Amino acid sequence: MNFQENVPLAPLTTFKVGGPARFLVEAASHAEVAGTVQFARAQSLPLFVLGGGSNLVISDAGWPGVVLKVAIAGMEERSENGKVLFEMGAGVEWDKFVARAVARNCSGIECLSGIPGSVGGTPVQNVGAYGQEVAETIESVLALDMKDGQIRELCNEACGFNYRTSIFNTSERGRYIILRVTYALEPGGVPRVHYADLKRYFVGRDAPTLAETRDAVRRIRAGKGMLITPGDEDCRSAGSFFKNPVLSPGQFDDLASRAAAKNLQIPSYPALDAQKKVSAAWLVEHSGFSRGHGHGPVGISRKHALAIVNRGAATAADIVAFKDEIQERVEDLWGIRLQPEPVFVGF
Ligand code: EPU
Repeated sequence: MNFQENVPLAPLTTFKVGGPARFLVEAASHAEVAGTVQFARAQSLPLFVLGGGSNLVISDAGWPGVVLKVAIAGMEERSENGKVLFEMGAGVEWDKFVARAVARNCSGIECLSGIPGSVGGTPVQNVGAYGQEVAETIESVLALDMKDGQIRELCNEACGFNYRTSIFNTSERGRYIILRVTYALEPGGVPRVHYADLKRYFVGRDAPTLAETRDAVRRIRAGKGMLITPGDEDCRSAGSFFKNPVLSPGQFDDLASRAAAKNLQIPSYPALDAQKKVSAAWLVEHSGFSRGHGHGPVGISRKHALAIVNRGAATAADIVAFKDEIQERVEDLWGIRLQPEPVFVGF
């Protein structure tokens, strides 16, 4: 078991902020995960489970207890009922799995190409992009239940998936440590080209293959600073910083009349309409925080209004202060309180 003391956490995240962990343990097996949980309990130290570090804001004080980095490897593949089941260790890099699935000509996650992070993190926030979300293809999740120390297999329904939520980040937050995720993909399946950006990319061209779709998604993401590209400070972020708010009809009417009073039209298109969401990026941009907006060491990405970026020397406090300012301004102008999407650790 790889066990270290006083380890800076910033380098383990895409945001590159945050103080040290008192202990950092890299666990490569189910037994090592269980051993780390026991160690934290025995020492009465709080435990935090780290995956790919792509959706986190870690406080400047760091984590006073044990950070467990899940490093469980493994990719197994078998055919069952016309599907190909991929059993993936929680520590596998997500995009490596997508590349493998596409290379095996299996569809279902091609639109989720280029997303940073590890497989184990994907069920937690029901990762979604470009017209797909993992809730559609996750067959089951194997997890250590910290309530009783048992390893349990949760079927898709038991995970309670919704927009950017599951039981793992809501009702059962902190209860499970995800060890393995089984995906059921469609062999020889056709790629899903539903999302406006993707349709635009392929306009006037033949129906794309899975590999072409993967390539297109990665290019579109790169154009928005949502693909980790070394040296590009616009991707020193946690991806989308706010969720797209889901509005009631009354809230929507209120927003529409505020927009009309400013001669503005709220963007509307199928992907948002289907879930009664409005674009958080639009709200941010129309509250004075345009792309490239600088605020000392923090700012808004030059490529997408929804990403707060660390321009190099930001602290977690800088990010939180900027987040508060955005939330307040958006609420003042539009009557909507934006909810952050990343997980805040050690605050
Ligand atoms: N828009 C702006 N300004 C911008 C960018 C976008 O006004 O700077 C408006 C436009 O009207 C645009 C609309 O927002 O058409 C939607 O933008 P986009 O297609 O980029 O999607 P998003 O709703 O901002 C969501 C996810 C992303 C995911 C993309 C693509 C959330 C919070 N974010 O972003 O997920 O990649 O769709 O499907 O649901 C993430 O969760 O970290 C993430 C990157």
